[in-house]
Amino acid sequence: MVVNELASWLVLVHLALAMLILGLLLATAILALPPSKGETNRIAPVAAAATYVLLLTGSTVVASNADNGCHSWPLCGGGVALDFSGANAFTMLHRGAVLVIGILLVYSLVKALRLAALRPIAMATIAVFALQVAVGAGAAVTDGALFNGLHVAIATLVWAGMASLALLALPRTDRAPALARLAVDKRPA
Ligand code: HEM
Repeated sequence: MVVNELASWLVLVHLALAMLILGLLLATAILALPPSKGETNRIAPVAAAATYVLLLTGSTVVASNADNGCHSWPLCGGGVALDFSGANAFTMLHRGAVLVIGILLVYSLVKALRLAALRPIAMATIAVFALQVAVGAGAAVTDGALFNGLHVAIATLVWAGMASLALLALPRTDRAPALARLAVDKRPA
């Protein structure tokens, strides 16, 4: 990133790798929790994978400098019309992904609310997702670094929440090394 002066493809790869590392750290921590039979929540891994894609669409906005060309909300054409010209296409991709993936995300979070083990994380993730949409609008209409910084920070929280839900729903076995029952024959030599 430094040597290539923030080349666009590296901005995208950098965010993708950072989020992957966070996901793997969460997997290490969650799979080390006490044994569990897991939860029936098949949508959670799909929603987590879709959230990862959503993060990447956001990164294309920054990588292509599209954020400097569209300062209206919710759409780029003055807020009310679709505008796919030039880099605005990346902005429209991100906003479209927020709409489509956001519906999937909210649906999976509402389903997770019914499972006691997942409820606290589902509630926290719904809250940070709602905040993220508001901060995203702030990042879109202003030029302020505050909103941009908050937006990437809260995106990390949304990803952490969705990845945790998918990981917590997995069955976990007891990893403690169990002593094998060995019959040791002690005959005199
Ligand atoms: C309607 C809602 C949203 C709007 C209007 C919006 C708008 C934006 C804007 C303007 C940027 C460029 C920010 C910059 O210049 O640094 C951006 C980047 C980004 N967005 Fe969103 N966003 C929304 C929702 C979301 C959601 C729900 C997520 C993920 C959970 C997300 C993830 C990201 C990410 C990861 C970036 C790249 C940030 C960076 O690398 O600095 N956005 N978004």
